[in-house]
Amino acid sequence: MEQYIIKGGNPLVGEVEIGGAKNAALAILAAAIMTDETVLVENLPDVNDVNVMLEAISGIGAMVQRIDRHTAKINGSTIGDFNIEYDYIKKIRASYYLLGALLGKYRRAEVALPGGCNIGSRPIDQHLKGFRALGADVDIEHGKIVAEAENLHGTHIYFDVVSVGATINVMMAAAMADSLTIMENVAKEPHVVDVANFLNSMGANIRGAGTDVIRIRGVKKFHKTEYSIIPDQIEAGTFMFAAAATKGDVTVLNVIPKHLDATISKLIDMGCEVEEFDDAVRVVAKGRLRSTQVKTLPYPGYPTDMQPQIGVTLALAKGTSTITESIFENRFKYLGELARMGAVTKVEGNSATIEGVEKFSGARVSAPDLRAGAALCIAGLAAEGITIVDDIVYIQRGYERFEEKLRSLGGMIEKVSSEKEIQKFKLKVG
Ligand code: EPZ
Repeated sequence: MEQYIIKGGNPLVGEVEIGGAKNAALAILAAAIMTDETVLVENLPDVNDVNVMLEAISGIGAMVQRIDRHTAKINGSTIGDFNIEYDYIKKIRASYYLLGALLGKYRRAEVALPGGCNIGSRPIDQHLKGFRALGADVDIEHGKIVAEAENLHGTHIYFDVVSVGATINVMMAAAMADSLTIMENVAKEPHVVDVANFLNSMGANIRGAGTDVIRIRGVKKFHKTEYSIIPDQIEAGTFMFAAAATKGDVTVLNVIPKHLDATISKLIDMGCEVEEFDDAVRVVAKGRLRSTQVKTLPYPGYPTDMQPQIGVTLALAKGTSTITESIFENRFKYLGELARMGAVTKVEGNSATIEGVEKFSGARVSAPDLRAGAALCIAGLAAEGITIVDDIVYIQRGYERFEEKLRSLGGMIEKVSSEKEIQKFKLKVG
């Protein structure tokens, strides 16, 4: 079982290139099968989740050609199967985006029901509400969602919950429905806009993505396209907090600063100096940071995917902070791991109170999920002594070359898979 071993104490300094947005890429790869012509997708992050999505797409018969680590060619004309096996859903929930894509293009789809995950139950009722509103019969039988439609007709959908997944999934199906669909109370994340732009580049007619109301005029057929995924604002924010927590000076390159507004605002509240450029952001943390209050919200509010990263940074700040997690019901598990490094926190319901401490001491911890795993690595980089992070497979799902990028900034971190390699690292770092 691979682990990260980290020796803390070095401020992270330098520049780091940010990759394509995982959560845009997963939806765009699913949507790419909606045309029978060839689609070229560039700036893909080379992460496990993207590789599994490409396997799921070729698993139903689409032609998938990996041009290089960050580029894939897809052609959906050879799809012969509309059934997404449980194996894929178990590996990545987002393979449920193939529901909207297959339903839109073929009027039928069968996808295994995604389970919950470490951060919450993650129901998909809003996805099914949207498909039914478009005229699909949607049944759940033997752990599968079976969706079929004589025809998909335009409709007016008001989502009960702001959901990134439901907004994207239903938008895909509506893009090939008849007539006009209006969707309200939708998610406005940058990756929702990226998927809408991608669909439009194939000939869809979607207006208003990124606002509260999305208008979709269905079209019969999509054509070929070449498309580059937007930068990953969550990867960028993770490195920005790594700079803040280690009192470093890091510039994240190839980002869209606008997407980072809520993160930048919090870093400034905490006492960091932040400089914005056209496609880069520099974060400098000179002394001990200040406490603050933060509540996770749908975009443009503070992102839930950046909650563990600010959590570990506030655990070293001066004073008492509170975090309210309004999106998921179980996203504070990492605080239990952080306590093993000396953090002083208290969780009550969906709120955490964090008493900042002067320092963490390195310890063995386990990554409970993708973003919390990355956050525990940040804690290790800021701690005194050696930290070992278990279950790093979670981190590799969403971060490309994570330890290499941290090493390029001066972080002492290596991937190890044996006691011998652990001893070798300890000897090397002294
Ligand atoms: C996406 O998950 C992201 N995943 C998550 O990122 C991210 O945390 C989340 O959006 C919120 O931004 C991908 O894009 C692959 P939601 P998603 O539907 O779409 C409730 C990461 O770290 N809800 O916006 O599943 C749900 O329970 C991952 O990259 C319903 O009640 O999130 C949650 O409380 C983790 N019914 C809230 O809405 C539904 O039908 C927001 O969930 C759907 C969602």
